[in-house]
Amino acid sequence: MLEINKIYNQDCVEGLKLLSDSSVDCIIIDPPYGINYFSGHYKNGNPHKPIANDNVLVIPIDELWRVLKPTGCMFIFYSQKKPLIDERVKNVIVWVKNNWTAGDLEGDFGNQYELIAYMPKDNFKLHSKRYSNVWNFNRISADNLLHPTQKPESIIRRLIETSTNEGDIVLDCFMGSGTTAVSCKQMGRRFIGFELEKSYCDIANRRLSQGTLLDITKLEVKSGSVIANDDGIPPNNKLLGILPNEL
Ligand SMILES: C[S@@+](CC[C@H](N)C(=O)[O-])C[C@H]1O[C@@H](n2cnc3c(N)ncnc32)[C@H](O)[C@@H]1O
Repeated sequence: MLEINKIYNQDCVEGLKLLSDSSVDCIIIDPPYGINYFSGHYKNGNPHKPIANDNVLVIPIDELWRVLKPTGCMFIFYSQKKPLIDERVKNVIVWVKNNWTAGDLEGDFGNQYELIAYMPKDNFKLHSKRYSNVWNFNRISADNLLHPTQKPESIIRRLIETSTNEGDIVLDCFMGSGTTAVSCKQMGRRFIGFELEKSYCDIANRRLSQGTLLDITKLEVKSGSVIANDDGIPPNNKLLGILPNEL
């Protein structure tokens, strides 16, 4: 049996075996997209290391389905470059970002969206008002990333809002910098997490320990000095005491 509100520094394929059938209310995962992502668009070189297991898309979907309650639902972030085809996908949410990646400047369009597969079990009902399946949320600016593919807290909070009640358990088995855990804490939900890389577990735990101080819903933009952007990330991670080059 696993402890609640803890991120295990463990391969999730092994970790999931420790979870009972129908034991979590919601699953939000952002696995490596299987595209060997490594941005070359940092002025002074990319401070992050390549994402573990990003050479091939491996999602333990059946095992995740086993641990999800019959009243629960699962969200999976993925890229159009590696389509996620599964008959349990009921809908796909398109996350439209405020700007787009550089990539192949002469031979390709700029990519301005990511995809989230929505996979509800039969007895799941929405817990929020009914949103459309196109969501606009700002991405986190490169200077403020603690993880190369860190997701904005705002979009994770929307997923949590649509699918859980206070006290419910959310599973994220590719925790990265802990965005799902921090969002759960802000919203009074419980979580279970796995993350392969120790350095990201450490960052996630530091974010969690300071999460209340940095509840961005309470921060304001004051004249001339921005304290937090839409993504909930202060413009300078020094506020968190964490810099990407500490990874
Ligand atoms: C796309 S990132 C998640 C980023 C996260 N959503 C955030 O906001 O920081 C995927 C993470 O999964 C981790 N990972 C890869 N394979 C894993 C596995 N088998 N078990 C647990 N974690 C894994 C990687 O180290 C990486 O940090």
